[in-house]
Amino acid sequence: MKFPSHINLPREARAELIKLLNTCLATSIDLHWQVKQAHWNIRGKNFISRHELFDDVADHVRKHADNFAERAGALGGYALGTIRLAAKNSELEEYDLSAVDGDDHIRILVDRVSRYAAILRDGIQRCADLNDPVTEDLFTQVLSEVEQDLWFLESHLYGSAATGRDDIAPSAILEERSPAPNA
Ligand SMILES: [Fe+2]
Repeated sequence: MKFPSHINLPREARAELIKLLNTCLATSIDLHWQVKQAHWNIRGKNFISRHELFDDVADHVRKHADNFAERAGALGGYALGTIRLAAKNSELEEYDLSAVDGDDHIRILVDRVSRYAAILRDGIQRCADLNDPVTEDLFTQVLSEVEQDLWFLESHLYGSAATGRDDIAPSAILEERSPAPNA
């Protein structure tokens, strides 16, 4: 524990919560930049709507990162939020740099955001186990926003060639395409 905290929770519970919050902070920072990667590199149909949607999602995730970091601080923890720490501690796999077509970016983001949502849902249960309804409420609020963004993203796949291919990982689809041009 880095800082004093007068929050009325056992020290061990606060340490567990801080660890959980730092994992979510790292994953949020990673996801924020993965969504920006899609924002910068998307091409093809519905370009503007998707380009702008990705920027909105990135802004939301950046706000989530801030909330996780500040709750860790309130509990007496030290926020581990540098880019290098985020890369090391994120629960997400790296972005697929061969993505160019819009549906490829959407499918990758649906994969990453749904993984993020699953981590947050597990976090809600962990907070309940540690008897901290305040951090649990934070996770619940964040998850609500993340699941709405997930709906916005996955709705772009409805009726497209990608629909009905939910059993295929994004990387498998991207392998069918030619490599991205060098940046
Ligand atoms: Fe931009």
